Amino acid sequence: MTKNMENYNVNEKGYYGEFGGAYIPEMLYPNVEELRQNYLKVMAEPEFQKEFNQLLKDYVGRPSPLYFAKRLSEKYNTKVYLKREDLNHTGAHKINNTIGQILMAKRLGKRRIIAETGAGQHGVATATVCALMGLECIVYMGEIDIARQAPNVARMKMLGATVIPALSGSRTLKDATNEAIRDWINNPVNTHYIIGSAIGPHPYPDMVTKFQSVISEEIKWQLKEHEGRENPDYVVACIGGGSNAAGTYYHFLHEKDVNIIAVEAAGLGVDSGESAATSVLGKEGIIHGCKTLLMQTSDGQITEPYSISAGLDYPGVGPMHAHLCKTERAEFMAITDDDAMKAGLKLCELEGIIPAIESSHALAIFEQKTFKPDDVVVVSLSGRGDKDLENYIEYFKI
Ligand SMILES: Cc1ncc(COP(=O)(O)O)c(C=O)c1O
Repeated sequence: MTKNMENYNVNEKGYYGEFGGAYIPEMLYPNVEELRQNYLKVMAEPEFQKEFNQLLKDYVGRPSPLYFAKRLSEKYNTKVYLKREDLNHTGAHKINNTIGQILMAKRLGKRRIIAETGAGQHGVATATVCALMGLECIVYMGEIDIARQAPNVARMKMLGATVIPALSGSRTLKDATNEAIRDWINNPVNTHYIIGSAIGPHPYPDMVTKFQSVISEEIKWQLKEHEGRENPDYVVACIGGGSNAAGTYYHFLHEKDVNIIAVEAAGLGVDSGESAATSVLGKEGIIHGCKTLLMQTSDGQITEPYSISAGLDYPGVGPMHAHLCKTERAEFMAITDDDAMKAGLKLCELEGIIPAIESSHALAIFEQKTFKPDDVVVVSLSGRGDKDLENYIEYFKI
């Protein structure tokens, strides 16, 4: 693999190499600009950091364990560690970002919160922090996702959020994001849009990445405790928009000896027409305010993505990941529905952990790629499988 150690972080103009930026309608400019001018300043405030870290510890339950998966390691003859984001309050990594963004929204004087969600994890995490802070919460969710992630819809409602179905396009994450952006344009003054992944116009990808970077910050000292060294040989994460991946990679981006593996959803197969493998099928384009790799037709219409996992069912990828792909800093792998589901079941059998279907994609790489016996491979277990039980039951006729 070519490892050109250039800058993999955002530059001052909001770009990762040629990807990123803020391609937004004029009506959104004041909101995005207000955030751009303030986010780094606010995040650097000692009071902000204190509150953020306190909530991550006492409310989310961080640090999340770095668990040596002994039986999985024996099966694949390598050393597999799981970063247990599934054990966070609300069941996934998404809460790291929503805690950060709700504190940001409060500092900016916003009273109304909107969000998009695919798997419902980000919606639940947003509804949770809104309840915590006493703020109004509106979540947009594709109609298809509402059906396949019913437990999370119920959770959001219990937490006091209003869930509004997105009825256009493939009625999944992309369409929910369109609706949320439309709402923000109509409510520019009092509303903060909590984007749930490392996507959107600058500064969102960078802000979300920084809030999620606690994942790799912890991996470093936890691995030092386990293995006597901070750097693994591989870090692995599934990619929808790319927030758990961005957080898992962040502190290793410029560490030459750490290999990065990004796992996308191949759906029914990369060439089946029913896929979400953006790095293979995507070309440069603009989606939801940023320039990135995007699945599109020859005349630039967005191709409807497909994956069994609602959280990976997105036609683009965050601009950091587009850059990691283009520069070959990260190796991209595509995993089918079938392989992901089997890997999820294998984790149940071998380790007693039911993973989210998104995370199962990352676990499936061990069937495709051989690692050396003394390689240390850290996999982000981004979420727990409670929300996916119905899907697992139906798939395996349990
Ligand atoms: C458990 C889990 N993992 C991964 C993802 C994918 O999102 P991202 O790529 O932003 O980490 C989701 C999205 O909903 C999710 O719920």
